[in-house]
Amino acid sequence: MKLLLKAGRVIDPSQNIDALMDIAIQDAKIVQIGPNLSEGQTNGRKGPSSKTKTIDLTGRVVVPGLIDMHTHLREPGFEYKETIETGSLAAAAGGFTSIACMPNTQPVNDNRSITEFIKRKAALAGRVHVYPIAAITIESAGRSLTDFRDLQDAGAIGFSDDGKSVLNSALMRRALEYASSIDMPVICHCEDPQLSAGGSMNEGFVSTELGLAPIPAMAEDVMTARDIIIAEYTRTAVHIAHVSTAGSVEFIRSAKKRGVKVTAETAPHYFTLTDDSLRDFNTFYKVNPPLRTKEDLEAVKEGLRDGTVDVIASDHAPHAVTDKDVEFEFAASGMIGLETSLALSLKLVDDGILTLPQLIQKMSFNPAKILKIPKGTLQVGVDADVTVIDREKIWTVDCHQFRSRSRNSPFHGRRMKGKAVMTIMGGEITYDESQNNA
Ligand code: DOR
Ligand code: ZN
Repeated sequence: MKLLLKAGRVIDPSQNIDALMDIAIQDAKIVQIGPNLSEGQTNGRKGPSSKTKTIDLTGRVVVPGLIDMHTHLREPGFEYKETIETGSLAAAAGGFTSIACMPNTQPVNDNRSITEFIKRKAALAGRVHVYPIAAITIESAGRSLTDFRDLQDAGAIGFSDDGKSVLNSALMRRALEYASSIDMPVICHCEDPQLSAGGSMNEGFVSTELGLAPIPAMAEDVMTARDIIIAEYTRTAVHIAHVSTAGSVEFIRSAKKRGVKVTAETAPHYFTLTDDSLRDFNTFYKVNPPLRTKEDLEAVKEGLRDGTVDVIASDHAPHAVTDKDVEFEFAASGMIGLETSLALSLKLVDDGILTLPQLIQKMSFNPAKILKIPKGTLQVGVDADVTVIDREKIWTVDCHQFRSRSRNSPFHGRRMKGKAVMTIMGGEITYDESQNNA
């Protein structure tokens, strides 16, 4: 099929484009981008226009398909929380054309059969490109490295023991060295489990008031610092996941200044919510790392603004009612985010923290660069992955409408501004708000 996307505001940070333009798509690729394309030009030549579907995108923003580099699909093992199919549908509805999924499934994605299984299931679902992230260590137990080369060959695009740090620093050193030798990213969950042991929320004034066991910010900071030190010493790259503290932001900022190859992501909840939200003991606000203080939130925003934090990722973490509807200390950590991530992030633009092109860069080009995948751009010749955004659309989050199998969003009922209204993956429309069920 041919598609002609007409008259949208095209923003493509990879090519420094921010202009009213048309995009022509044919055979799943972008074949032309420029002002005033006509139907006959969808293949770059004169030709029959009958099979071209023209979509008028006047007033819409058209960007490279969004990439979420930190998602939890729960398959295999926890299909009651999410499957690859339901997670894919949620991703498309949220405007994503590519997602990278973390290995903390059951069994853990520490071998090629799991990686291949995920890829096969994702292809069957056919809604979003799914890039498996394999475990750094077998069973993410922190004892011995997985077979990086074999996992790369099977289709894994990076390594992480997300949910925990690799505590053995010598092993972490080997992981960074081995991964860099095969040009693969390592994504670090930074947490010293002895400092965070038994904790349910950020350590501070609110935890004292509520009497909930605390997790100090330094539980994150010490591991961020350690991983930077190892990367600096070995001259390898390291990516810090879900940055939530002012301390982490500062360690990353100063390391970048010294030329360390460190990149970082944060999630929308860390620049939207603070530990104050926990006052009603709603377990939907329980995440790991925990929601921090206003000072941390401001530091994360400043990190996004000044480029210290490269990426916004959802850390979509689906959990069932039975995981969440229990006493706070026993509740699972995590909130779903695929279907709210974009709107929460657009608020940064409304608040003057980021320009719209900067935001799009953090949700497309930057994650593609870190994961080394040929995505995040609207260059002629690439797969036609495109997200169409209505910047003005006011909507109210209704978790019952979510495609995700889980409902654990603390944003249910919140009014949002801005939404992905069409998602196109490889030239196919995978989500269309006007149909609401494409
Ligand atoms: O809140 C979290 N949930 N943090 C993690 O690191 C893991 C995740 C999950 O898998 O539920
Ligand atoms: Zn995670």
